[in-house]
Amino acid sequence: MSESNIVWHLHAVSKSDRATQKQQQPCVLWFTGLSGSGKSTIAGALEHALIERGNHTYLLDGDNVRHGLCGDLDFSDQARQENIRRVGEVAKLMADAGLIVLSAFISPFTQERDFVRSLLPAAEFIEVHMATPLETCEQRDPKGLYKKARRGEISNFTGIDSDYEAPINPEIVLDTSAHSIDECVAKLTQYLLDKGIIR
Ligand code: ADX
Repeated sequence: MSESNIVWHLHAVSKSDRATQKQQQPCVLWFTGLSGSGKSTIAGALEHALIERGNHTYLLDGDNVRHGLCGDLDFSDQARQENIRRVGEVAKLMADAGLIVLSAFISPFTQERDFVRSLLPAAEFIEVHMATPLETCEQRDPKGLYKKARRGEISNFTGIDSDYEAPINPEIVLDTSAHSIDECVAKLTQYLLDKGIIR
């Protein structure tokens, strides 16, 4: 497809208009980490806390998005790249809508996470590394998937036979083996207050 015949249309209502109406700064909180590290749990608890404060949010969750938008993708490296590319573009649109976006995807590769970062203004991409150790994630095994992966019933399972590249310089690091849900939510909320994203 030639993109040269497609021209960006500048609409009357801007990102800043939408954000001002919501009394917040849009951003993308990008939770990355192993399966079972607490991404969905902490993102969900933070979203609840933000809604209670009167903020406007949306939570993009890997398991849910793979039922629809990314339902055609498997867990090969290439499909994971496409998964994160799509979700990154959706997160960007949602930030353009003025929302505080929370995304919970393993997103195992640095290159794809950096691609999403490159889509947004610097202050709007907040990488949250869920650094919960593999042993804890495997012990929790909430969906029984680690057991299946160890038995060889699932291939390309992150942390077992597929790589996880930990972020080198994330904005926030959380470890749910050492800290409670409330402590993690408090740390994230304080970060958002300090940066003027929420009031
Ligand atoms: S990502 O690597 O492409 O970012 P995503 O976050 O969308 O992954 O999906 C991860 C979820 O899919 C896990 O929480 C787990 O429930 C499920 N899953 C199924 N198969 C795999 C696999 N091979 N590796 C990792 N997660 C898997």
